[in-house]
Amino acid sequence: MNLETERLLLREWRDADRDAFAAIVADPHVMRFYPATRSRAEADAWIDKMIEGRANGTGQFLAVERKSDGAMLGLTGTADINFAIPTAPKLEIGWVLGQDYWGQGYAPEAARAALEHAFTQLNAPEVVAFTARVNLPSQRVMQKLGLVRDPAADFDHPRIPEGHPLRAHVLYRLANPQG
Ligand SMILES: CC(C)(COP(=O)(O)OP(=O)(O)OC[C@H]1O[C@@H](n2cnc3c(N)ncnc32)[C@H](O)[C@@H]1OP(=O)(O)O)[C@@H](O)C(=O)NCCC(=O)NCCS
Repeated sequence: MNLETERLLLREWRDADRDAFAAIVADPHVMRFYPATRSRAEADAWIDKMIEGRANGTGQFLAVERKSDGAMLGLTGTADINFAIPTAPKLEIGWVLGQDYWGQGYAPEAARAALEHAFTQLNAPEVVAFTARVNLPSQRVMQKLGLVRDPAADFDHPRIPEGHPLRAHVLYRLANPQG
């Protein structure tokens, strides 16, 4: 499955993406809203998990490629939420781009295609996005996509220790406009 936008391709992961992806998720600035940066082995395992998710139908995270020069910018897509959030349905949408590519609207452009795919091809009744409360850039992407914050669904991430500044999460939602 490939998705295409004006400037971007969302496509399957390739081995040739592994160096660029590892550099992105080893960058402390990119990862400042995650508990830690990722080692090369963890970056490879992350890609492997995205490929596995596509194979077993639990995830649709794809590589984002810029059409003009073939650069691999990062990831976006949807996936089943793999821990319990009582107030959320099954599907989340997410994104991570290398910092050289920020501020040009690439994340919302790519994610809009993934959202459309979730609604029209996966027939998801609703898609949510969540992030650390302090991650305002990611919340801007959610807002640009038309997702709306549901303060009643704020939650503490179960995998982040109590007292950690990234534990408090916010959740945004959008129902499938096709009903
Ligand atoms: C969140 C992210 C994907 C946004 O991608 P993007 O393509 O830059 O998105 P946009 O161009 O629409 O910018 C979104 C917001 O990012 C912020 N932003 C833009 N350029 C930035 C920069 N160079 N440095 C810091 N923040 C920046 C702005 O708040 C912007 O909002 P605005 O357009 O209203 O000014 C990107 O910042 C990223 O990969 N962050 C690290 C990973 C992450 O936190 N992922 C989400 C986990 S839930």
